[in-house]
Amino acid sequence: MKFHVITLFPESFDSYLNESIIGRAIKEKRISVAFYDPRKYAPKELKKKWPDGNVTVYADGRPFGGGPGMVLRAEPYVMAIENALKVIAKRPKAKAKIIFFSPGGVMFDTEYAKTAVTKFTDIIFVCGRYEGIDARIKKVFKMEDVSIGNYVLTGGELPAMVCIDCMARQVSGVLGNFDSREEERVSSHDVYTRPEVLIHKGKKHKVPEVLLSGNPKLINAWKRREVIK
Ligand code: ADE
Repeated sequence: MKFHVITLFPESFDSYLNESIIGRAIKEKRISVAFYDPRKYAPKELKKKWPDGNVTVYADGRPFGGGPGMVLRAEPYVMAIENALKVIAKRPKAKAKIIFFSPGGVMFDTEYAKTAVTKFTDIIFVCGRYEGIDARIKKVFKMEDVSIGNYVLTGGELPAMVCIDCMARQVSGVLGNFDSREEERVSSHDVYTRPEVLIHKGKKHKVPEVLLSGNPKLINAWKRREVIK
């Protein structure tokens, strides 16, 4: 599974993607995550080179019709997405979907992740910021508005990380044991490890006895919540 992220802040992904299960999945090439910074793909007219060599990219503008904040210009995003599509098109069998993050989009959940991983080889995530991206990018590309919850975030980077994490665990081999996907269990149960007795402020908290019984039938029944006390 290949993820392509269109973002002004690619570094914000670094620590998360390098750690733990997702970090290993990337090292083992079960998934990949590529970044396309719209500033890099902005047309010349939006770039200004200063005498000291620094370059400013004017990636945003004031909203037509007035209103607070700044709107991200369509051109750098269109060009970044085109670039991602070009990279994807090098693999003739690739099938791509473009997701645009918006608090008003369809609600992301595990089912959405499963379907996406089954139907597509590549997902492009378009991360907005500020007041949003010029809506005309949605006229240029077919994309789906997706929300990760009923709250408003400052940008699409966290939603992209959430989707990558959730989709990656649907990719075979990413989880050491595929069955450890929570949703494959009949019901999610509490888990315990050493010590058998946790003492906190003089109070003893024991591991449920059944888990120490060594009896797989009883243990599985407990996990399925069949045993109540
Ligand atoms: N952008 C801002 N808030 C968001 C949310 N809840 N889901 C997806 N994209 C967003």
